[in-house]
Amino acid sequence: MAPRVLVTGGAGYLGGHVVLRLCAAGARVGVLDSFVTGTRANLEPAIQLGLRTDDVLVGDIRDRQLPHRVAAWDPEVVIHLAAQPSVAASVRDPLLDAEVNVLGTLNVLTAATRAAVRKVVFASSGGTVYGSLPPRLARATEQTAHRPESPYGLSKATADRYLRLHERLHGLRFTSLALGNVYGPRLDGGRPANVVGGFVFALLAGHRPVLHGDGRQTRDFVHVTDVARAFESACDRGDGTFLNIGTGVETSVLRLLRIVAGAAGAGREPPVEHRAAPPGEARRVCLDITAAGTHLGWRPRLRLADGVARLVAEVRGLPAAAAGG
Ligand SMILES: NC(=O)c1ccc[n+]([C@@H]2O[C@H](COP(=O)([O-])OP(=O)(O)OC[C@H]3O[C@@H](n4cnc5c(N)ncnc54)[C@H](O)[C@@H]3O)[C@@H](O)[C@H]2O)c1
Repeated sequence: MAPRVLVTGGAGYLGGHVVLRLCAAGARVGVLDSFVTGTRANLEPAIQLGLRTDDVLVGDIRDRQLPHRVAAWDPEVVIHLAAQPSVAASVRDPLLDAEVNVLGTLNVLTAATRAAVRKVVFASSGGTVYGSLPPRLARATEQTAHRPESPYGLSKATADRYLRLHERLHGLRFTSLALGNVYGPRLDGGRPANVVGGFVFALLAGHRPVLHGDGRQTRDFVHVTDVARAFESACDRGDGTFLNIGTGVETSVLRLLRIVAGAAGAGREPPVEHRAAPPGEARRVCLDITAAGTHLGWRPRLRLADGVARLVAEVRGLPAAAAGG
């Protein structure tokens, strides 16, 4: 495990889990986050494990001073998670999306090059860079053409191309992890901004979950602790690769609803609130994860039904206000 790892976006949903995992592995971890959606509470478990509060840097990845700040902290590896992470928000405000996800990422790569870091590990998006899987394909491999259907997917695909370019131009090593739909608990106890968390929190609070579209859209759901393990592995392995991180299992949102309802004891067909499918969302997503096995020695440990059962138990254990919110 690399001794000094700087995690941009480390105070976010996924970031909290990655920082915790690295601290547990004995790394010296720094966090750089603007706290626009991240929280101090997401870092609390890592602080208990030794994350130093003066290694938590408040800053924006678009800041021109970023290279100086990164060089001053002197990381060996940079894990770049800071982003505008929402497909819907990217459709509403594509300029902001590109400023953070393209220009911000370019600034991080420039900073990493100047600070002579050994490697950058990037959070790309397997759920959006390939666009909707055509009927003839069971799963997207890393060779599947990028056909993003949202500004967010395009900005992640563009960032991936900048990674390759920086490797060629400056010798900056990288691994890009194209994540499926990440689910599991937020370390700060809040509701994750995804469909799994939405269903779990609504059903446990006795509310109707919101179903966007007809529910036949499919996703590759992967547990946040499995994703955090992939980031840890990529600090030392898989140089120069783009790797899908999912489960290889295609699950419709309706099937997910049944799984969550079963785990929450809410019957097989709970009543839902129907809303229109938001623009920019892919119809079919499923990721071939063979390459992550080869290059990282990684495979997911939690099946969706088990991860959901665990999440339901975790949310039940929260104070009532959080579960009902
Ligand atoms: N959650 C998923 O299902 C999923 C899927 C694919 C890819 N990803 C990617 O994983 C990464 C983490 O996503 P997440 O779900 O944890 O989202 P998140 O919003 O919880 O985390 C993003 C973090 O980045 C910080 N941030 C945002 N803009 C910033 C800026 N300009 N400067 C510095 N910090 C900034 C936020 O405060 C937050 O802590 C993102 O790059 C996202 O695109 C997530």
